[in-house]
Amino acid sequence: MLELQNLSRHFGGVKAVDTLDLTVRQGEILGLIGPNGSGKSTTVNLITGVYRPTAGTVRFMGRDITAMEPHQRSEIGIARTFQNIRLFGHLTVWQNVWAARVVRERGWAGFRQRWLSGAGAAREEAESLLEFGDLAHKRDMLAGNLAFGEQRRLELLRAAASGAPLLLLDEPAAGMNAEEIQDLDQRIRSLRDQGRTILLIEHHMELVMEVCDRVAVLNFGRKIAEGTPGEVQADAQVRAAYLGTESLTA
Ligand SMILES: Nc1ncnc2c1ncn2[C@@H]1O[C@H](COP(=O)(O)OP(=O)(O)OP(=O)(O)O)[C@@H](O)[C@H]1O
Ligand SMILES: [Mg+2]
Repeated sequence: MLELQNLSRHFGGVKAVDTLDLTVRQGEILGLIGPNGSGKSTTVNLITGVYRPTAGTVRFMGRDITAMEPHQRSEIGIARTFQNIRLFGHLTVWQNVWAARVVRERGWAGFRQRWLSGAGAAREEAESLLEFGDLAHKRDMLAGNLAFGEQRRLELLRAAASGAPLLLLDEPAAGMNAEEIQDLDQRIRSLRDQGRTILLIEHHMELVMEVCDRVAVLNFGRKIAEGTPGEVQADAQVRAAYLGTESLTA
């Protein structure tokens, strides 16, 4: 579904992403892990078009999208959540989900008209997403006033509401407690079961190892391992990369 070929992005002397080859297969949950600063978020920014690569290509559903603008990429089916939450803080929970759902149908051009007239299937779908995210009871709250874990949940709902077949989740569990992470685990699985393909960036190893079909590991911008969660966990290079930073079995 998504293919990164020989992808690099350098910032001055920093090789944030370095000759990365990575394939995300349709219907899988692929984990992308690595120590702080290893290039995970830069990879997401290259996939979504926020950054242009220094070299290499990004292909999505058989099409070279390396030169495409970010909004075009979202229109053809790539959605993301941000490591640092970015919601419309002054809109309600409902409006945040509704906005994402409406843009999907008409693009930004038809947004105003649809926003005002909204009814029918789109509304039902947004409602059921709020239920799915356990935020229906907070639908009229301003997103900016939600608790942190709820904001992360809302970000996930917004990405899902876009209808994109590919979801890039950049540390969706950051700052969540154990119970919230369990719920997130279930939600990620059920999004996959509904046909979404997911690239999951996470530091919570328990979540990664439980939920991912495959895992790729970055270190200093390079992919140092790829395989099943078990294979990656047992890999000597991966263990060395994590030494002194965080535990792989945490
Ligand atoms: N816009 C930028 N300008 C300069 N350097 C950058 C920029 N974005 C990222 N970097 C550098 O690129 C490297 C990779 O950063 P990136 O944010 O991709 O890491 P990460 O794996 O997401 O880390 P974390 O786990 O802390 O989120 C780091 O050394 C970072 O300082
Ligand atoms: Mg990051």
